[in-house]
Amino acid sequence: MKYGTKILTAFFFLSIPCAIAASPKNPDQCFVCHEGMGDKPSSLYKSDVHKLNGISCSGCHGGDASKEDQDDAMKKSIGFIGVPHGDEISTLCGSCHADSVKMRQYNSKLPTHQMNLLAASVHGKNAIKGGQHIVQCTTCHNSHGIVSVKNPKSPVHPLRVTQTCTQCHANAAYMRLYNPSLPVDQLDKYRTSVHGLRNAQGDAKAAVCSSCHSGHDIQPAGSAKSHVNAANIPETCAKCHASADYMKEYKIPTDQYEKFTKSVHGVALLQKHDLSAPACNDCHGNHGAVPPGVESISKVCGSCHALNADLFSASPHKKAFDENKFPECETCHGNHGIMTATVTMLGVDSTAVCSKCHTEQKSVKGYRVAQEMRLLIDSLTNDQKRALGIVEEAEQKGMEIGEAKFKLRDAHQARLESRTMVHSFNKEKFDEVIAKGLNVTSFVALEAQRAVEEYFFRRWGLGIATLIITILAVSLYAYIRRLENK
Ligand code: HEC
Ligand code: HEC
Ligand code: HEC
Ligand code: HEC
Ligand code: HEC
Ligand code: HEC
Ligand code: HEC
Ligand code: HEC
Ligand code: HEC
Ligand code: HEC
Ligand code: HEC
Repeated sequence: MKYGTKILTAFFFLSIPCAIAASPKNPDQCFVCHEGMGDKPSSLYKSDVHKLNGISCSGCHGGDASKEDQDDAMKKSIGFIGVPHGDEISTLCGSCHADSVKMRQYNSKLPTHQMNLLAASVHGKNAIKGGQHIVQCTTCHNSHGIVSVKNPKSPVHPLRVTQTCTQCHANAAYMRLYNPSLPVDQLDKYRTSVHGLRNAQGDAKAAVCSSCHSGHDIQPAGSAKSHVNAANIPETCAKCHASADYMKEYKIPTDQYEKFTKSVHGVALLQKHDLSAPACNDCHGNHGAVPPGVESISKVCGSCHALNADLFSASPHKKAFDENKFPECETCHGNHGIMTATVTMLGVDSTAVCSKCHTEQKSVKGYRVAQEMRLLIDSLTNDQKRALGIVEEAEQKGMEIGEAKFKLRDAHQARLESRTMVHSFNKEKFDEVIAKGLNVTSFVALEAQRAVEEYFFRRWGLGIATLIITILAVSLYAYIRRLENK
């Protein structure tokens, strides 16, 4: 047993002799000699996380760190690889970072999936020139002077990562080589966002490129696997915005995700997989994330609900809302918890949104219109029910009323139109739509009523005819009997 342990220990030291920085007795000769030369790699290396973990220059470059002589130390025959280039670099980093056994020998708890994620990411494609990959580990982490990603000096620290990403993504000439249709305005837009403004003030908690896109697992935005794909974005934003703890120093609510997932939009997007429903970024923008100002909400909603927005903009509410700083659509519908709209929103009773502002004492014209609009809808709904009732009666009696029943759909259509036309907040325009519906319902009710009447008419007719025939038959019989008697 003891013997076995010894072999194992010996094997362990033999397998990574060059990776272990020498003890004070046996100093790291690579570093000693190179520091003496005052070159850049050795001066950066002084603060390198690898040095702190006892990894010598030879941990990456190979060679023998215990040899004082330059030629002995940097001999190809003992594994000196010189300066790595292109894909050799990531392979080199991966020789430790993708090997969980090796990383555990350094007591590291870091994940070891960076290599795999990177290879499967959009950056894992080959570069246009050179036949190598677009990025190497060192593109984002540097080669020397590597520090923990939480260290403010790291190029991927939140306060520096936007520069690291945009050295390519804000370079139009470079990006055009790959994908001419890919925008290069992310940084410009980001700077206008609340995230970007906070970041510029030195706040490391606001979202940066890698908070939304990740660092290694970056996919094309349209891919289902992307963290910023419509179906995944609510969770990506929720990582921070749904965490009361993370957001505690800010004075904003953290209920957006919870409300959104229950809203008509959230249910459509996340449960029915309806990609025409909005995700967080459809209302807030991708890189320019700010709450839409009170006066531009109708534009945001109007990108999908165009008719509602047009009607609203032409309505008396547009000016009145903007002047009073009432947030446009949001005042009546909310923002994250938007639910299916119902007729109970309209009118002057306590459940109606209108009565928040219009009462008999205050803003009375709106009060009257709200009341009248509601009455019109209620009368249409009642007439629809009544007409349908008569149609069903006629059908039960076996009367043919096909076309009239079909027409009832037009009344339903008018009701749907009226839901949109509400947003004109104009009694006359609203009247026109409802009138179309009322015309249809009264026409259908009349037709169905006629059919029912005809049914009764036919029944009476049949009865009388039977009676006459019976009378005739009886008379004929009596007549024949009389003739026979004679
Ligand atoms: C006694 C001094 C000395 C020691 C020990 C030494 N080097 Fe060097 N090294 C040099 C000098 C001088 C150069 C530059 C001359 C040249 O290019 O050959 C150099 C160049 C290099 C280069 C660049 C090679 C290239 O092709 O441009 C690397 C990488 C390197 N050393 C790594 C190491 C590593 C790793 C070790 C330890 C295993 C090490 N050195 C030990 C002096 C030393
Ligand atoms: C974590 C791995 C790693 C360690 C540790 C490391 N290097 Fe390097 N080194 C690289 C990589 C990767 C390159 C390729 C540079 C590039 O193309 O960005 C490189 C390049 C070099 C070069 C040539 C290019 C240049 O930047 O001048 C020299 C010289 C060099 N290293 C010396 C050293 C010395 C000396 C040490 C120790 C004091 C050391 N390196 C430690 C990874 C490492
Ligand atoms: C000889 C093995 C080895 C090689 C080769 C190696 N690393 Fe490391 N690396 C480590 C160890 C060990 C740590 C410290 C782990 C810890 O603190 O948990 C580390 C830490 C890091 C960290 C800091 C992670 C953090 O936030 O704590 C980064 C970044 C990093 N390495 C990048 C690289 C890059 C880039 C390369 C290639 C140029 C590379 N490493 C090559 C072993 C290696
Ligand atoms: C496109 C830039 C980019 C490239 C390329 C890249 N990284 Fe990272 N890396 C990051 C960012 C950003 C983080 C910060 C954590 C995060 O947000 O995921 C990070 C974090 C890390 C960490 C800390 C632990 C972790 O996973 O969060 C290690 C270790 C690491 N990277 C190693 C590597 C290695 C090894 C490679 C090459 C296989 C590599 N990285 C390539 C951007 C990059
Ligand atoms: C708050 C989250 C967030 C932040 C921060 C963020 N992005 Fe994005 N990014 C997105 C979303 C969402 C999309 C678009 C998804 C879609 O098209 O459905 C996107 C799309 C992209 C695209 C595809 C082209 C485009 O513009 O639509 C690139 C490239 C990109 N981002 C790079 C970056 C860079 C570089 C940064 C840092 C300056 C950054 N992103 C910061 C969320 C973010
Ligand atoms: C070395 C240059 C470079 C760096 C650094 C870089 N990228 Fe890229 N990125 C590219 C190239 C090239 C593409 C691929 C374009 C293509 O082929 O469609 C790309 C693609 C992307 C895409 C996919 C765009 C789409 O929808 O098709 C996103 C998102 C992205 N990068 C985000 C980032 C983020 C975030 C960072 C920083 C952590 C970053 N990139 C760092 C060059 C770079
Ligand atoms: C890394 C954490 C993080 C992520 C991920 C994140 N945010 Fe933020 N966001 C913040 C912080 C921190 C603030 C600053 C809050 C403040 O100053 O009021 C903020 C501010 C905002 C604001 C402005 C709030 C206000 O009124 O001040 C909006 C809107 C916003 N984020 C939307 C989003 C959206 C949409 C997403 C996803 C696409 C997202 N955020 C992803 C952390 C994050
Ligand atoms: C249907 C459009 C829409 C969607 C979808 C949406 N928001 Fe909002 N969001 C708004 C509006 C409107 C405001 C408030 C603007 C105002 O009143 O100034 C707002 C405000 C915010 C604020 C500022 C703080 C607050 O609550 O008032 C944050 C943060 C925010 N949203 C994050 C998110 C996140 C995260 C998601 C996805 C889970 C999301 N939003 C989805 C429209 C939307
Ligand atoms: C003054 C209150 C109010 C404002 C402001 C308002 N709505 Fe409405 N909205 C209603 C009412 C009331 C209904 C339901 C009517 C019904 O069911 O009879 C409704 C119904 C809807 C519907 C469902 C019917 C349809 O057209 O598909 C949508 C969508 C809608 N509104 C979007 C918007 C948008 C977008 C805005 C901003 C441009 C907006 N609303 C502004 C009160 C309002
Ligand atoms: C990206 C497109 C998009 C945006 C932006 C958007 N919506 Fe919607 N909205 C939809 C879709 C799609 C539905 C239908 C969901 C379903 O019923 O399955 C819907 C449903 C609704 C409904 C319920 C309709 C009904 O029949 O009762 C209301 C109310 C509504 N949205 C209001 C708004 C408001 C207010 C905004 C702005 C704050 C907004 N929407 C922004 C796409 C959008
Ligand atoms: C947030 C407050 C608010 C809500 C909610 C609201 N309104 Fe108004 N409305 C106003 C203001 C302010 C005016 C401007 C004229 C005034 O002060 O009466 C106005 C004007 C009107 C007008 C035009 C009156 C005129 O003087 O020409 C009509 C019609 C109207 N509203 C109908 C409605 C209906 C119907 C609803 C419910 C669906 C509603 N309003 C909900 C605030 C509101």
